[in-house]
Amino acid sequence: MKFFVDTAEIDQIRELHALGMVDGVTTNPSLIAKSGRDILGVIKEICEIVEGPVSAEVVALEADAMIAEGRKLAAIAPNIAVKVPLTWDGLKACKVLSGEGNMVNVTLCFSANQALLAAKAGATFISPFIGRLDDINIDGLDLIADIRTIYDNYGFDTQILAASIRSANHMSECAKIGADVATAPPSVIKAMANHVLTDKGLAGFMADVAKAGIKIL
Ligand code: G3P
Repeated sequence: MKFFVDTAEIDQIRELHALGMVDGVTTNPSLIAKSGRDILGVIKEICEIVEGPVSAEVVALEADAMIAEGRKLAAIAPNIAVKVPLTWDGLKACKVLSGEGNMVNVTLCFSANQALLAAKAGATFISPFIGRLDDINIDGLDLIADIRTIYDNYGFDTQILAASIRSANHMSECAKIGADVATAPPSVIKAMANHVLTDKGLAGFMADVAKAGIKIL
């Protein structure tokens, strides 16, 4: 499973990228607003750091305007994935932009039917939002499993990009189900390293290091 990092914070992207943890980046208007940066400038800077797909989201609601915005975003760098919402206009924009050879990420997906339409419209990535489904007591992981089944049934090559990930558990469950990509905030990616028995085991080793006076350097 590829790891995308869901942030527009340059320092955090650099830190995870140096560890080989960043196969791509996703942003959305809320993350851009949180960064306090101009969208074009921050996306360009991210593309200079990361080789993989960098999702940049349109802000128009009507197809022709989305297409114009998408073309402008795609011109920033060859690794831009234009992100469009899963609306009828978004699907129209997806069809045109993907037909022009651009990567397109269709976002705000909350049902298997929406994912099926995105694949038919030529999406490179479909972004089902797990956490926001969990928030309304619908199991978001079930949606990932349903989309996996449907895409495999018909050989769609649209990649399942699990999004709205809130926990390390979401990451491992997405990997078990077969999501192609998971995008998570840096804090969640770092939390994947944590285990209470690792902490306990290390504390025991350190006690013995102190008792025996073990030195390496
Ligand atoms: O990848 C989508 C993500 O940014 C939304 O996450 O936690 O706001 O639902 P969240």
